[in-house]
Amino acid sequence: MTTSRRPFVVGLGGTLRANSSTERALRYCLAAVEKQGGRTRLFAAEDLDLPMYAPHELERTPRALKLVTTLREADAVVVGSPGYHGAISGLVKNALDYIEDLREDPRVYLDNTPWGCISCAYGWQAAVGTLTQLRSIGHALRAWPTPLGVAINSADPIWAPSGELADTEQARSVATQLELLASQVLAFAQTARETS
Ligand SMILES: Cc1cc2nc3c(=O)[nH]c(=O)nc-3n(C[C@H](O)[C@H](O)[C@H](O)COP(=O)(O)O)c2cc1C
Repeated sequence: MTTSRRPFVVGLGGTLRANSSTERALRYCLAAVEKQGGRTRLFAAEDLDLPMYAPHELERTPRALKLVTTLREADAVVVGSPGYHGAISGLVKNALDYIEDLREDPRVYLDNTPWGCISCAYGWQAAVGTLTQLRSIGHALRAWPTPLGVAINSADPIWAPSGELADTEQARSVATQLELLASQVLAFAQTARETS
């Protein structure tokens, strides 16, 4: 595949915490995208530390502009959020609110764009609830949430101290799911390209 034909997948999410498990999961998924032939760009940590989105403000910081202009080029998006008090974190939601700047684009918001979702929380209730919210946000942005979303229970032994996936059954299951998520966003991106 030539570079221009390789689907471009933008990852967005994580937390401001060093060793964010959400960021690790996103990185693992994007690495799987690259292995399967895609190109990627991750927005995590301070990339997402943006002023509160203000629709009436026309000024954008360089970081915010970089996020919006990169999302404009995306063939697919993978978003990852921790569950904070049962919901998507403010950091991730605020970054996603900047997609409002794409409302008057030829491709309105993320119309017809695959949308992969990953959530991490210290229990299934918040993990699954947050995943559902991420998928709903994708629908609102006219994107296509993939059939598989990945909810990760941070109470399980998923990550080794090195930052790699641990040698556990739960970690292997998470790896399989993140690889499948990568396959699904790439397959949807191919279909979207063929039908647009
Ligand atoms: C402010 C805050 C609120 C949280 N609320 C919940 C919650 O409601 N339910 C839950 O299961 N975990 C909750 N957690 C735990 C995080 O979801 C969990 O540790 C997650 O893995 C953090 O992501 P990170 O490793 O990327 O920083 C909370 C953590 C913080 C810091």
